[in-house]
Amino acid sequence: MATQLKKTNRQFVCQHCGSVYGKWQGRCDDCQEWNSLTQTAFPKKNSSKECSEAQPLDDIDTQESPRITSGISELDRLLGGGFVPSSVSLLGGEPGIGKSTLTMHIAQAVAAKGGKVLYISGEESAQQIVLRAERLGKKDPNILLLIETDIEHVCAKIHRHNPDLVVIDSIQVMQHSQLNAVPGTVSQVRYCADHFISCIKKRQSIGLMIGHITRDGHLAGPKVLEHMVDCIFFLEGEHRRGYRILRSYKNRYSATDEIGLFEMGQKGLTTLSNSSQYFIDPDTLKHPGTVVAPVEHGSRSLLVEVQALAVDASYGAPKRNFVGVDTHRANLMIATLEKNCGIRLGNKDIFINVVGGLKISEPALDLAMCMALLSSLKNHVIPEHVAAVGEVGLSGEIRAIPQLKQRLIELQRLGITHCLIPERNKKTLPSMIQIKPVFLSHLSHIIQQFKT
Ligand code: TYD
Ligand code: MG
Repeated sequence: MATQLKKTNRQFVCQHCGSVYGKWQGRCDDCQEWNSLTQTAFPKKNSSKECSEAQPLDDIDTQESPRITSGISELDRLLGGGFVPSSVSLLGGEPGIGKSTLTMHIAQAVAAKGGKVLYISGEESAQQIVLRAERLGKKDPNILLLIETDIEHVCAKIHRHNPDLVVIDSIQVMQHSQLNAVPGTVSQVRYCADHFISCIKKRQSIGLMIGHITRDGHLAGPKVLEHMVDCIFFLEGEHRRGYRILRSYKNRYSATDEIGLFEMGQKGLTTLSNSSQYFIDPDTLKHPGTVVAPVEHGSRSLLVEVQALAVDASYGAPKRNFVGVDTHRANLMIATLEKNCGIRLGNKDIFINVVGGLKISEPALDLAMCMALLSSLKNHVIPEHVAAVGEVGLSGEIRAIPQLKQRLIELQRLGITHCLIPERNKKTLPSMIQIKPVFLSHLSHIIQQFKT
């Protein structure tokens, strides 16, 4: 017992955010949580650790090591061209959403290109994983499977096999034997992730960790986990419907506004070829309160269905409920509509929703929100071949939007024939597009669209 104590270093870890303190205190300084510190024994750090030297800037080699493409186009787009060597990514998502399936796809894609993959699972049996691998593709000999939960053993195997890609499924089941905490606790997750990340960086390999999420949708474990990794992705979707959205939450090497769209089928996840079929329902377009809008998501143009419902508020303060749109912009549109279109919305419950679980924050959705709201209020169906796009300013002016051509091409593919477009985009209107534009310069003009 005495020898074990000598080797360890007792510290106090906040079970909410993972901050570490030398002595106990009632409240965590970082997250302000009360009574969240518990005593944990960490193994002593090796004092003979190598110390790095400072270098003049011009001595540092700037040649970037080439990215390793996963071969899955939707993922490579999110990664900004592929995995960066020495990087560690975290993949979060609800249970059963397809995290293990996606990581097996990635493992098979990297292995098919001759890369060596070490797939570590602490959650499933070897048989289960092999059955999944067979279902998704083939049993590639370049994928080594390790059923293990001890992070020290995991790192020893990484040193032994020197793989190009290491998958850990999941970081919450990993444990360090010298830490007196159960797997999944803040201190275990933090310590195991730290151990794994330094092991990956040392070997210039690529690390991919699966992470569980809490009931409110955040990554389970310490908040610092988000700072420790290079990229964080979330796999989302509705279990009933087959599509999955891979969202980038953090990426040290590329933009985070990209999304990857997949479809879950008999052979795992495949690229979603016709996204409109999931996000637009031709039947609901026949009802008042819905309109199609072309939006830009990263480098991709997507068509979404914006739905609005305005009903008399029955009691108390009117309800405002917005899903998939920016709350501030939605409130702004309600005020702008009241001011410019002579309608009263202060006594209405208002609901706005983007169908299919997409979250759109770009201002080009403003006009579609206003159209959907007016359509619901006036009980007037917007014909299904009509779309709307444009940013609305505070004084009701309709402002120009970028990437008009891509948006119109996407609309044309769905069979839309007319689109409400900002007048200020007139000069940039692309030729060769068969969509008939309806130019608008001010929000007050949209009321004309609802005159019968
Ligand atoms: P899984 O990857 O195990 O989810 P997670 O690791 O996020 O918990 O995926 C489980 C679900 O995916 C399960 O409901 C079955 C379904 N699935 C398919 O529909 N097709 C497939 O080819 C595979 C492998 C799974
Ligand atoms: Mg899993």
